[in-house]
Amino acid sequence: MENALHQSLTILGAGYTAKILHPLAERRYTHVCASSRDPEQHLSHLSPDHRIAFDLARPDTWVSIPTATDVLWCFPAVPIELVRQFADHALLGARRVVILGSTSAYREGATPPYPPPWVDESTPIDLTIPRVQGEELLRTAYGAIVLRVSGIYGPGRNPIDWIKTGRVNRSRKYVNLIHVEDLSAVCLAALRHGQSGEVYNVSDGTPRTWHEICEEVERRWHIGSSVSGEQKPGGKRLSNHKLFELLELDRTGLRHTDVFEALASIQKQSLTQVEPSR
Ligand SMILES: NC(=O)c1ccc[n+]([C@@H]2O[C@H](COP(=O)([O-])OP(=O)(O)OC[C@H]3O[C@@H](n4cnc5c(N)ncnc54)[C@H](OP(=O)(O)O)[C@@H]3O)[C@@H](O)[C@H]2O)c1
Repeated sequence: MENALHQSLTILGAGYTAKILHPLAERRYTHVCASSRDPEQHLSHLSPDHRIAFDLARPDTWVSIPTATDVLWCFPAVPIELVRQFADHALLGARRVVILGSTSAYREGATPPYPPPWVDESTPIDLTIPRVQGEELLRTAYGAIVLRVSGIYGPGRNPIDWIKTGRVNRSRKYVNLIHVEDLSAVCLAALRHGQSGEVYNVSDGTPRTWHEICEEVERRWHIGSSVSGEQKPGGKRLSNHKLFELLELDRTGLRHTDVFEALASIQKQSLTQVEPSR
């Protein structure tokens, strides 16, 4: 399997996750390049030979993808017709391709039981969502590996800030989270060991309610939160068993399985260093 890997990785859509992943990927690939629609502005931290201009909406930029490269796709695969044309143009069917999807792909019933049932990779998905259509096209017609990713957090994306600013509040709604460092390791494991055309859920394995998170944040950091008036608490409880099989093949595991310990470390870091802006 390892011999089948290209020596080059192209990260399409280099935003938050890619910034953390890039240095890790350089340990496995001899050349890693990252794309942006505005590389000079957004990827100024990379040398010019490691950044490319790529915009799915501009076919004239598609030629910038190296001819022999693995691909990590990090933005919503829409609109589907352009996704199809680009996939044909870039011969994605002949490459290792991993795409970051979202757990929002899984349908939530109108009146789900509470607590909500566990969601695994066989749970029905909502094919009316355009990005899900794009991911499914890439998976079924081009063999891409789809990672259905839960809420990404880490330095610069801190759930404590979400609570402080009222973006989230105390409710019985379930949330699933993944630290960006673990997500990065998962992406590399999927590129190396993932089964072509397979789906893997990505979360730290412990769904929590926002109530539980807000309570603990208040207890540890004395940050209060408002109470949600939400009538239907819902949310999802994501199973990550299949992910563990993938990580075992890569002889790695998740480092941040306790969100509160991870938050403590992010809080500490944010006191000593400037957070990434993208
Ligand atoms: N945030 C979450 O909690 C969460 C949860 C589950 C799944 N996800 C998904 O996981 C993926 C990675 O997340 P992230 O937060 O690392 O993403 P991100 O920071 O938004 O980075 C993705 C980058 O892709 C580029 N891009 C966007 N549209 C594009 C297009 N049409 N053509 C080419 N490039 C395009 C943008 O960079 P330029 O502006 O520089 O081109 C954007 O910054 C995304 O698909 C996201 O939807 C996120």
